Amino acid sequence: MLRRHSFRCVFCAVLAAIAYFLMFGSPQRAAAQAPVSFINDVAPIFKENCFACHDAKKKSGKYDMTSYEKLMAGGANGEPIAPGKPQESEFHELMVTKDQRRMPPRDKGEAVPKEKADVIARWIKEGAKLDAGIDPKADIVKELRVRWKAPAPPKVYPFPTIVNALAFTPDAKQIVVGGHHEITVWTVETGKLAKRMHTRAERAYGMAFLPDGKLVVAGGRPGQEGDVRVYDILTAKGKTEDGVEVLDGVNDKAVMLKQLLDVEDSVLCLAVSPDGKTLAAGGCDRAVRIWDLSGGIAAAKLEQTVENHADWVLGCALTSDGKYLVTAGRDKTAKVWDLKAKESVVTFPEHQQIVYGVAVKADGSLGFSVGADKQLRTWNPKGEGKQVKNAGGHGDEIFKVAFNPKQPMLATSSADKSVRLWNSDTLAAGKTLAGLNDFVFAVAFSADGALVAGGSYDGGVAVWKVADGAPVKVFNASPGIVTKDPEPKKK
Ligand code: HEC
Repeated sequence: MLRRHSFRCVFCAVLAAIAYFLMFGSPQRAAAQAPVSFINDVAPIFKENCFACHDAKKKSGKYDMTSYEKLMAGGANGEPIAPGKPQESEFHELMVTKDQRRMPPRDKGEAVPKEKADVIARWIKEGAKLDAGIDPKADIVKELRVRWKAPAPPKVYPFPTIVNALAFTPDAKQIVVGGHHEITVWTVETGKLAKRMHTRAERAYGMAFLPDGKLVVAGGRPGQEGDVRVYDILTAKGKTEDGVEVLDGVNDKAVMLKQLLDVEDSVLCLAVSPDGKTLAAGGCDRAVRIWDLSGGIAAAKLEQTVENHADWVLGCALTSDGKYLVTAGRDKTAKVWDLKAKESVVTFPEHQQIVYGVAVKADGSLGFSVGADKQLRTWNPKGEGKQVKNAGGHGDEIFKVAFNPKQPMLATSSADKSVRLWNSDTLAAGKTLAGLNDFVFAVAFSADGALVAGGSYDGGVAVWKVADGAPVKVFNASPGIVTKDPEPKKK
């Protein structure tokens, strides 16, 4: 999952850079020479080229550049910027120098492109000022994030969306899918687009309906921001475009009911206890946050922040009593956290490769995990972290494991393009569900446990009946896209 989507990100970044250049990089614009704005023109260059080493955590050369005040104060060598005099500013000199000591350091990265270094020089020449209305102590990363405006999703998708998350509506008649800056709703029976809801997040990585019918979504913009938000996607009213209802989940307060989290990188997983009272979400900042929702969404309370992994948290699950949190980590372990005692109780190390997904039996008696080792493994969450069974698995990496809410049944989804059902008591493998043509990143059961759906890297969504594995519908969840049939097998 992580390899391939980072490739896609690089591609998008290049496209975005070209588009940006075409719009703003033209000579006509440069000729206009409006004064340089620190927050709009200068800060993004620092963020891209300098903050990796000069943020509050790393402070290379004892230099933190992430607030205007600290930027101007400098590091071990004192003030690096002489307002009005770029040529006398160590700061600028370090960026354009031909000497060995350059910033970023020669062995660590490319030089700042000349046109960007020129923007910095011009800003210093104009007095190295901060824009009016910004606190010199404000965190620049946060200021940039606040200013960022979510683009509207494409009307017709030029590329298929990557389905990282999906959920059945409570009545199981529709399926909700994460798109590009939106959440889309599709009718199961017909595979037709029924509703679109714009979101600030570029991607959704986890979603679940609460008992009151509100949808919680975890997601973000890779490397830029992460969020957890609660939406009314079922009953809020939008406008109709081309026969499809469109909701504004960015600005409309009747749609986007509550923002629970705002962090600096994607939130990758989400779990709700069956009674809807406890919510867990974790991601790239290695933390899992736990909210108490017993007073309703409006009164949602952040209870604790669990830091139990050495790397991204990729999956999470809660026991039905809300007492234990089970997590999957890029640090190659699955872990159990006691939410009452606030301590780590079990580490399951057996995968020895990235653990992508976890599930736990409602009573907390058995934990399940899947990962890059292609295995579904079970273990005792209250024991010593010893494996109970290696159930076997798929022909390739396994990304998710989900519990059927009504029967002792698990579903796993894999890079081998299939979803597989398992008996969660005996761990006997059940049906293998085919129909998707790419990595299956997402899997979910309907609330009545009768249907299971998988979502794949190429935008594919498939719905099957769990009773006999019969396909109900396969469609592409990228609005407007014309999909090619899979290439025929070479003889
Ligand atoms: C890969 C890490 C890295 C990146 C990226 C980086 N720096 Fe540095 N920077 C360092 C290290 C390490 C030092 C301390 C050693 C030194 O001063 O040469 C330093 C020191 C400095 C100093 C001197 C601080 C002082 O008072 O001693 C300045 C000024 C500076 N960097 C500016 C920048 C700017 C501007 C950028 C972005 C265009 C940048 N750096 C990007 C690693 C980095």
